[in-house]
Amino acid sequence: MGKRLTEVGVANIYQNKFTLKIATVAVALLIGTVSIIYTNSLVNELKEREQKLIELFANTLEYTGNENNSDNLVFIFQEIIVANNSVPVILADAEGNPVNYNNITIKEPITEEEKEQRLKREMAEMRLQHEPIEIALKDPETGRIYEYNYVYYKNSKLLSQLTYYPYIQLSVISVFAILAYLAFSYSKTAEQNRVWVGLAKETAHQLGTPLSSLMAWVEYFRTDPVMDQSIVDEINKDIRRLDMVTSRFSNIGSVPTLRPENIYEVIKEIITYLEPRISTKVKISVEAHDEEVMALINKPLFDWVIENLCKNAVDAMRGIGTIKINIGNENPEKVIIDITDDGKGIAKSKIKKVFQPGFTTKKRGWGLGLTLAKRIIDQYHQGKIYVKSSTPDVGTTFSIILKTVD
Ligand SMILES: Nc1ncnc2c1ncn2[C@@H]1O[C@H](COP(=O)(O)OP(=O)(O)OP(=O)(O)O)[C@@H](O)[C@H]1O
Ligand SMILES: [Mg+2]
Repeated sequence: MGKRLTEVGVANIYQNKFTLKIATVAVALLIGTVSIIYTNSLVNELKEREQKLIELFANTLEYTGNENNSDNLVFIFQEIIVANNSVPVILADAEGNPVNYNNITIKEPITEEEKEQRLKREMAEMRLQHEPIEIALKDPETGRIYEYNYVYYKNSKLLSQLTYYPYIQLSVISVFAILAYLAFSYSKTAEQNRVWVGLAKETAHQLGTPLSSLMAWVEYFRTDPVMDQSIVDEINKDIRRLDMVTSRFSNIGSVPTLRPENIYEVIKEIITYLEPRISTKVKISVEAHDEEVMALINKPLFDWVIENLCKNAVDAMRGIGTIKINIGNENPEKVIIDITDDGKGIAKSKIKKVFQPGFTTKKRGWGLGLTLAKRIIDQYHQGKIYVKSSTPDVGTTFSIILKTVD
């Protein structure tokens, strides 16, 4: 019962973490969207106001300007428009020549001609944003239109800034969020590593003392004439086994040293060790493209990986079947170790999960074998381990890729 609870616990942590991530992203998107919509509505309102203002001035100009006196017009333009807003405006005559302007910075010194050119360019730009407003100047006595003038204008600086503001704001926030996330997940991984390494070191350390004491006992029994030496041999084998387990733990707990080893030989040796310990109805074959291929490995840890994969394969075929190990290095820079079984296979939806800690489909499994194998291959050997293919009821192939050495 307790066991089941543990499995559910581990699985839940991963499920919850995923839900939390989705929720965080959803909230972030919502905040972003609301912020953009809100600023956009502000921008639209401000835009409308600026437009109304300009229309109002244009109307004022039209009403009061209808005296046969263009000086008057300029005066009104200066006094009313200049004094009252931040919207860049240009008043132009019927021929499109600028007569007056405001809220446009023009660097002095400048000749009259250059200034006119500058204002005309500005007018062309303004036309892209808003159609200029037409002012019909009428003769107050006859009511006859004698001239058209035009008010060109564009969005105020404030309005333009406000349009871009949410995008700038969101980018700054996103960059910050990404940096924070990276820093956080980095520190989390570092912490996980410390736990792994610390636990492994401590285990190796604690096993060491009784182990050396047991070794001393074996030596003592060897010289005892009363002792049945075949029993001593059996005890000695178990002690060697314990010693191997200890060296695995101590290797994973320190920076493991890698040595060039003949991969074919190493795997052969592991299989020789494993075969008598598993069902006699399981046949294991080892084939190599090149029996001399060498790679940098830490033997105790690499043994552990192959052993875990073979044990999983045996479990998957319920004690009867064949395991084929193929060592390929068609590309001389890499060695690819394929371990194929004809067991029950892995459902497609589960393939992604097999390397997660706590994922198991076995009654007595911890779901740690592949997690450990991945850690050993990825982190200690800078290699790759993955499910190459798996078909339910047909079988599974796990692959390991390592760099070769000469
Ligand atoms: N060769 C395989 N064929 C079919 N399923 C497999 C195979 N290898 C792994 N699996 C699936 O992946 C799961 C996780 O394997 P893993 O070795 O990590 O844990 P476990 O074997 O269940 O427990 P343990 O921690 O004791 O190794 C297994 O429970 C099994 O469902
Ligand atoms: Mg396993």
